Amino acid sequence: MNAHHNASPPSSAEDAVTLTVDGRVLTAAPGQSVGAALATNGITAWRSTRKNGRPRGLFCGIGVCFDCLVEVDDVPNQRACLVEACDGMQIIGTYPQNERGQA
Ligand code: FES
Repeated sequence: MNAHHNASPPSSAEDAVTLTVDGRVLTAAPGQSVGAALATNGITAWRSTRKNGRPRGLFCGIGVCFDCLVEVDDVPNQRACLVEACDGMQIIGTYPQNERGQA
């Protein structure tokens, strides 16, 4: 099993990558995608659909569906399932409960 398939946050602090998601500090395993980091930290929805405001997060997990879009270090519309989580990364979703209150 490689780092991309870890099902839980890293167990040792020295191995952890720290990122901020909507103001919340999370840890991820080195090499883990942002989407995987969110999921393993219990976050399953970080944006909502324009039409009905339905929650969205990981769906395909392979860069095809675009359900997982996030803003990464001020760059909008990044697919969380394809971006590797890096130390100090700032992630912003658009789910209504996030820090910005955007829908
Ligand atoms: S989950 Fe489908 S593109 Fe990321």
